[in-house]
Amino acid sequence: MATAVLTPESVLPKQAKLLINGEFVDAASGKTFETPNPATGETLAVVAEADKEDVDRAVKAARKAFEEGPWSGMNARARGRLLHRFAELVAENAEELATLDTLDNGKPIRETKNVDLPLVIDCLEYYAGWADKIEGETIPVSGPFLNYTLKEPVGVVGQIIPWNFPLLMAAWKLGPALATGCTVVLKPAEQTPLSALRLGELLCEAGFPPGVVNILPGYGPTAGAALASHMDVDKVAFTGSTEIGRLIMEMAAKSNLKKVTLELGGKAPNIVLPDADLDAAVKGAVTGIFFNQGEVCCAGSRLFVEDSIHDEFLNRLKKHAESIQVGNPLDPNTQMGAQVSEEQLERILGYCESGKKDGAKVLTGGERNTAAGSGYFMKPTIFAEVKDSMKIAREEIFGPVVSAIRFSETGDAIQRGNRTSYGLSAAVWTSDVKKAHNIARKLRAGVVWVNTYNVFDAASPFGGYKESGIGRELGKHALANYLETKSVWVAL
Ligand code: NAI
Ligand code: MG
Repeated sequence: MATAVLTPESVLPKQAKLLINGEFVDAASGKTFETPNPATGETLAVVAEADKEDVDRAVKAARKAFEEGPWSGMNARARGRLLHRFAELVAENAEELATLDTLDNGKPIRETKNVDLPLVIDCLEYYAGWADKIEGETIPVSGPFLNYTLKEPVGVVGQIIPWNFPLLMAAWKLGPALATGCTVVLKPAEQTPLSALRLGELLCEAGFPPGVVNILPGYGPTAGAALASHMDVDKVAFTGSTEIGRLIMEMAAKSNLKKVTLELGGKAPNIVLPDADLDAAVKGAVTGIFFNQGEVCCAGSRLFVEDSIHDEFLNRLKKHAESIQVGNPLDPNTQMGAQVSEEQLERILGYCESGKKDGAKVLTGGERNTAAGSGYFMKPTIFAEVKDSMKIAREEIFGPVVSAIRFSETGDAIQRGNRTSYGLSAAVWTSDVKKAHNIARKLRAGVVWVNTYNVFDAASPFGGYKESGIGRELGKHALANYLETKSVWVAL
């Protein structure tokens, strides 16, 4: 599989400007910011920095495209064709896009190529197929009336996405918004703006009319807040921390009561019962926490292991963790790359210190990985003998750090697994089918994996219970986030 990778020079943009109304332009303020390569700390590109004025211009363009011009009158099938063309262009440029995300985020090229990009393309194709299948209903009301519903796009949508899966999060947001006929102002994370801008070029090339998608790299408290509190944005979709999710809702409430969907943090219980296939469960625990450097909202960060298999399980897990190749993300053999930023690395190291101080046992890792390079590399880390009350068992770490917790009774593990303010995902490992289904029902999470971990499909809903979010992405469920329902009465 070790094919040659594209060189950074061949994929980095010559200019990284804002996409507003079909044109790449400088920020109104003329300001720029640098986006570094987390694997080296070196600057990859200088990027135009959007702020309120740019958000105003982009929202105006999106409003105009929503109300007038080719997009507003386009039939659903033509919309679907545009999305299909966009998906094709993404596929044609997959290698370049994968390399861009690897450079900007620090994640390994084997993952951007083999996981992120295929999921991105699937997602866009999936929603392209939905465009002409969104239907209303006729309702048998009382009286001499015909009553039917129209499903209409909600309007101008602000989308604020994080840095952990830059392209995939853009696809999850753009797919349903464009399939339903909305127009979009998308703000990528300041850590990873490059691939979204490249998507912007491909959207133009695919033939999306000016203003339908506007892309504004910039910071959260400035560009992001301007978008979330804008009076002419009909809906805001956000993925990121629970802390900022709360702010987004507040801004929506205080401005124009725009619709809100939120995809937030998690602290997933990954529960291993003694009758599980241990080989599979160990591999699942590894994927669950070390995939994408642990920068995954649904990471299996609380590993509940039953007493009788506990020591054997952790021994095997430790062996796997220590065999993970950490290093240059562009090397096709690298399995774990760099954390996204120095800030994120420091945050993770802070949690490791807290775990040690609270008396958890470091089975492996627990520190920065200086051998892997000068960038923000972490050692895959396992804490054992973690108690539910410890900070590392309660808070989202968003790094390759798993907290192993003992249990002796399945019911107790489920209860303790559910005892968190989060509810994004959960997993259970057992060879007893009946038990598996019963436990799946009891876990308070939007996604439950049985004898597997971190599987996704564009057709299957993803989202959180409790403080992990509001609404569902993917599948037909995500369409509802971007639609209004109109009830039409006709006297007969
Ligand atoms: P964040 O929530 O601050 O950033 C996510 C997005 O929100 C970015 O585009 C950012 O620019 C924007 N944003 C930030 N402040 C904003 C504001 N006041 N108004 C509008 N938009 C704003 O996340 P951050 O700081 O990058 O990471 C902190 C922690 O958040 C991580 O350690 C992790 O625990 C969690 N996180 C969760 C993610 C998820 O997928 N659920 C993704 C990224 C981070
Ligand atoms: Mg932040």
